[in-house]
Amino acid sequence: MKNSKITWKISQGMYVLTTNNGGCIVDAVSQVSGGDSPLISVAVMKKNYTNELMKNNDRFAISVLGENVNPEIIKVFGFNSSRDINKFENIEIENILDQKVIKDSLGYMICEKVDSIENETHTIFIGRLVEADLYKDEKEMTYAYYQEHKEELLKVKTENEKTAWVCTICGYIYYGEELPDDYKCPICGVDKTLFKKQS
Ligand SMILES: Cc1cc2nc3c(=O)[nH]c(=O)nc-3n(C[C@H](O)[C@H](O)[C@H](O)COP(=O)(O)O)c2cc1C
Repeated sequence: MKNSKITWKISQGMYVLTTNNGGCIVDAVSQVSGGDSPLISVAVMKKNYTNELMKNNDRFAISVLGENVNPEIIKVFGFNSSRDINKFENIEIENILDQKVIKDSLGYMICEKVDSIENETHTIFIGRLVEADLYKDEKEMTYAYYQEHKEELLKVKTENEKTAWVCTICGYIYYGEELPDDYKCPICGVDKTLFKKQS
């Protein structure tokens, strides 16, 4: 493949997908159909705990992130698993139709799950919009914006003279002098050649 970064030009946004007691950052959201109660799809990696939760729940919520979102939300939901932490502990939420919605967002969509499609790595969940609100009519964060600003958003800095390696694909940070030869990004799976050293 000559340069897969062309896929960053597909207009995607940045969202927090939540469903009972968990959730994660997603960019793979699209509107499948229009009308008063459109269908919305979201692709969730099978290795994510959120995938399991999505399979066990009939509803999910998508909170739309703006460019001014507190980056802590991206760190908590995008670089941790609900298998290990309670992601909602320090994040302000609102309960809408029993779903946890992120307050520091531009608004939310609550969907009833109607279908799902399995592929090798992801499940595509399709939901019908049953409730939605716009909190703030501000600029949404696109996936391209995240890619361009991830270093400043995630404030990559070396601590105690530790070297930081940043995944150029998703922004995950590895601290350590050298990356092991067989190292794979725990979030997006790319190998060490796609990590950039920060000094
Ligand atoms: C910018 C960005 C975009 C992401 N997009 C997706 C996505 O579309 N689908 C997905 O399943 N995971 C996506 N992730 C990864 C999950 O947010 C991440 O693996 C999370 O830690 C999973 O948490 P969980 O195990 O609690 O589900 C993305 C992460 C980042 C930082």
